[in-house]
Amino acid sequence: MAKIAIMGHGTLGSGLAEVARVNRESIASKLGEEVEVKYILDIREFPDSPYADRFVKDFSVIENDPEVEVVVETIGGTKVAQEFTRRALLAGKHVVTANKELVATYGKDLLAIAAEKNVNYLFEASVGGAIPLLRPLFQCMAGNQIEEIAGILNGTTNYILTRMVQDGASFADALKEAQAKGYAEADPTADVEGIDAGRKICILSNLAWGKEVAPANVRMVGISALDLKDVDIAASAGYRVKLLGHAMRMADGKVAAYVAPHLVPESSPLSTVDDVFNACLIRGNAADEVMFYGRGAGSPPLPR
Ligand code: HSE
Repeated sequence: MAKIAIMGHGTLGSGLAEVARVNRESIASKLGEEVEVKYILDIREFPDSPYADRFVKDFSVIENDPEVEVVVETIGGTKVAQEFTRRALLAGKHVVTANKELVATYGKDLLAIAAEKNVNYLFEASVGGAIPLLRPLFQCMAGNQIEEIAGILNGTTNYILTRMVQDGASFADALKEAQAKGYAEADPTADVEGIDAGRKICILSNLAWGKEVAPANVRMVGISALDLKDVDIAASAGYRVKLLGHAMRMADGKVAAYVAPHLVPESSPLSTVDDVFNACLIRGNAADEVMFYGRGAGSPPLPR
């Protein structure tokens, strides 16, 4: 029996706990052992949760329990999440995270601690939500020189743009809907100003080119200045407005990365990626174009 702890019980943490419960048998048959959620760390109370007896408020309970092999961090941000991640790695536990802000900013340091302690720091879900993307890019496409990456990397803004195009919704109403569905960050500024997509393009660039691309060096333009008129004019000319994270290898070997709204022609597969879905197009010199598509934010669509 593998014992894990989940830190945080918001959209992501509660979704993961539910996946572990609903898919318990199929996970066990694939791994060859059961996975038990031994603890959930949160300062709030959840008396109606099927995990009600597993909640703890003190991280040191997890840190000091040798039975816990894997800690999943779904706290978000870089303060508490960074401290607990460091302490979990130093205690010899594997850490799995979807925290793009932490990975984009401090991933190098945390990976160094993990290597020193001979454990894993895994962050597949930090980019593209449910899409298996980072491992395919880093491992399966290792035979390629990556030339370009272009992706719809933020579910909230893609949802907003889709509602504007399909329903004529205003930016503000569409944002409210995205927040209600649990897609947006705690502070949606990071979504609408392109900062969340910026962190994700940094992570993709670091893996694709092995060079540190820091969020501070990436120009990020979001969609808050767009209105209904802009998306309508684009649509009438055969384009869809999409917020893309874009990175490419330049002739001098340097990497250029930025986030901005793009006019995507309707002939491009990226133009049909709607709602909370994400997609990432990767061009390598051996594979040519490869595209990954899937649900980019929110809770898993399991029966609850
Ligand atoms: N706020 C993020 C998004 C969550 O909308 O894509 C997933 O990273």
